Amino acid sequence: MSELPPAARWLPAGTFEDEVAVVTGGGTGLGLEIARGLAALGARVVIVSRDPAHHRALLEEGARRGWRVEARVLDVREPADVRAAAESILAAHGRVDVLVNNAAGNFVCPAERLSANAWRAVLGIVLDGTFYCSQAFGKAMIAARAGRILNVVATYAWTGMPGVVHSASAKAGVLALTRTLAVEWARHGIRVNAIAPGPFESQGASSNLWPEPAVADAIRARIPLARFATADEVAAQCLHLLSPASAYVTGECLVVDGGASLGAPMWEPGARFSRRREGAADGGPAS
Ligand code: COA
Repeated sequence: MSELPPAARWLPAGTFEDEVAVVTGGGTGLGLEIARGLAALGARVVIVSRDPAHHRALLEEGARRGWRVEARVLDVREPADVRAAAESILAAHGRVDVLVNNAAGNFVCPAERLSANAWRAVLGIVLDGTFYCSQAFGKAMIAARAGRILNVVATYAWTGMPGVVHSASAKAGVLALTRTLAVEWARHGIRVNAIAPGPFESQGASSNLWPEPAVADAIRARIPLARFATADEVAAQCLHLLSPASAYVTGECLVVDGGASLGAPMWEPGARFSRRREGAADGGPAS
């Protein structure tokens, strides 16, 4: 039971010792892996999410491993509730060093069929929620003249992707928020970064976004590294961005997608090229 979670194995023991970290949506998927990594590296971790059933996994593992973890029910779409949660966490712990805005909602729906309520639900969780949490916990970080915020976005924030206009629009907003707060709050000693994972296996994403194995296979075929990430591979990069190893990194968006967002190649990797003629540019693959 002493073995570290995989995401935590790349940083020194105690990297986040005695820091207080809040992870939204921290009970499942990527949020859970980030929370586990932070806790294993010494942080006091508070996960917040809507569904208390999602809290159990971390709380049970924390009890077994001796981690300092707790959970609170919170809908990040409700600004007054977010402010109250921030006040209560600060009252309990005296500080917040790390905020991970990971909570998200997503599903595939053609834009022309998306209801106003569905648009609002996803924009509310992803964009509004990220702002409300950043503001509520950011005030404490400003007072402390230190803090780190990490926002989870997606490469389709800038590439676009059919069927997720709600999520892509929200994530694009979060990316702008990331860069803006990075510049605005740098003078307060706060770093604000984003991570853009490609497809990885997780409870929320797998069942919502590629429920059919054939869809997952088609996605995999377009990834240069030819596989999905694991959640702990993505979480490892999150921990690195939050650690002192990234002390000079702010306003950055780290893409962790196995090369997927670089676009489909014009020809197959390994294609045989025509021999270069004197004075001529390289051609495409030999016919
Ligand atoms: N396709 C189209 N519309 C959908 C939908 C889908 N798959 N899922 C939800 N909606 C619509 C609902 O129909 C509703 O709109 P309506 O009132 O016009 O019918 C609106 O979105 C809100 O849905 P509801 O379930 O009432 O809202 P919610 O706030 O409880 O939850 C989500 C919304 C997106 C968070 C919810 O679908 C969810 O829990 N998803 C799984 C978690 C997740 O997505 N994690 C992130 C993975 S990347």
